[in-house]
Amino acid sequence: MVRVLVGELASAVGGTVTVKGWVETLRLQSKVQFVVVRDHTGAVQVTHRRGGAGDALGELLRGLTVESAVEVTGRVVANPVVKLGGLEIVPERVVVASVAEPGLPIGPETGAEQRMNWRFLDLRRPARRLVFEVQTTVERAMREVAAEQGCTELHTPKLMGTASESGAEVFEVGYFDRTAYLAQSPQFYKQMAIAAGIDRVFEVGPVFRAEPSFTSRHATEFTGVDVELAWTDGAEEVMAFEEAMLRRVLERVAERHGAEIERHWGTPVVVPELPFPRLTMAEAMQKLRAAGWDAEGVREDLDPEGERLLSALVAEETGHEFVFVTRFPASVRPFYHRRPDGEPGLTDSFDLLWKGIEITTGAQREHRYDRLVAQAAEQGMDTGPEGPLGRYLDCFRYGMPPHGGFGLGLGRVLMQALGLPSIRDAVFLFRGPNRLEP
Ligand code: 4AD
Ligand code: MG
Repeated sequence: MVRVLVGELASAVGGTVTVKGWVETLRLQSKVQFVVVRDHTGAVQVTHRRGGAGDALGELLRGLTVESAVEVTGRVVANPVVKLGGLEIVPERVVVASVAEPGLPIGPETGAEQRMNWRFLDLRRPARRLVFEVQTTVERAMREVAAEQGCTELHTPKLMGTASESGAEVFEVGYFDRTAYLAQSPQFYKQMAIAAGIDRVFEVGPVFRAEPSFTSRHATEFTGVDVELAWTDGAEEVMAFEEAMLRRVLERVAERHGAEIERHWGTPVVVPELPFPRLTMAEAMQKLRAAGWDAEGVREDLDPEGERLLSALVAEETGHEFVFVTRFPASVRPFYHRRPDGEPGLTDSFDLLWKGIEITTGAQREHRYDRLVAQAAEQGMDTGPEGPLGRYLDCFRYGMPPHGGFGLGLGRVLMQALGLPSIRDAVFLFRGPNRLEP
């Protein structure tokens, strides 16, 4: 029989259908047996009235276990007494596709590490699986905007002969008789694409960071969304692109999943107004220090506490969940960020904070070869042709347009969209310093 999804049963009342899913609960009484079967669209009660001796179906149900995979064929009956959707299935035939061993390794009270060990079981709970439905919507909306804005989607290599961006935080892998490195960002390659005449670049791909961080927002492998735009005048253009993209994303998420997110996680999905608030780093620091952050007055960059506090202050003042922080000091930014004319101590760069955490870093890039080389040298980097930056710097030697872009962490966006406690809950299988399994 053709499978009917549990979510569609209301329109099948009176008919005979087959539903396929997992046993959520079993209540096996001597006269009536109740089996709740769940698929990815909902759960339905299967009600079997026992028929005395020779009740083969009743015997089969007696052998069931929770989380067994079953196919149930029966009549759909409206029954207002049934709490679950006001209907039930009166079974004629049940096929056990695969029986679950009794005694599940995880339950509602299980801690995070054990849940990660059994992630496939953890994800059978609709609240936990919702994140991937939202992710699908988020990525689709991002692609849609990228395409409308004239971006070309690219897939840059993740195996590299030299470390990208900086030597720290890079994973080495054995590569035949030499060492390869896993890309920490598509940064240099998306700039190479600009040099190649791909006017606007969009990439969604894996990013690897050998950071021994044990926070709720760091992973050693995550999915990055990267954009690079040719012929930009400054970071403002890049920010305008990103805020429009995020607005579309949240419109779609609110429309398709807003109610589910609120129901399962208690998080309201707010479609942000444009433009997002913007603060220069100097303004942000002033605000933060007035609120008691960094009492010694020594910090040049935001720390996690600063990010949280700044978001809270901006939300209080403007009601906005997002804030762009701009014009970071050059001392805390990579060499390739452009410095505003006459202000060598600053960069035309930004971070985007959403509800207290950084979700993006972006910048106008330095596209002038001489200045780029000088800025790299200033940070003590080897700028020689045989050095790790050689191939990158070559891109700037034969006509490089001004350009800018950003990198956004998909896991962090999902974490904030649903209000999840950790990035571990926002990815299918988390990768951290102590976690390479399953
Ligand atoms: O801020 P990051 O390191 O910036 C770059 O990679 C630049 N190349 C981007 C650019 O175009 N200038 O990383 C970008 C984003 C962060 O804002 C954060 O959302 C996410 O990637 N991210 C991480 N997500 C999870 N785990 C980690 N360890 C992350 N590190 C960065
Ligand atoms: Mg950053």
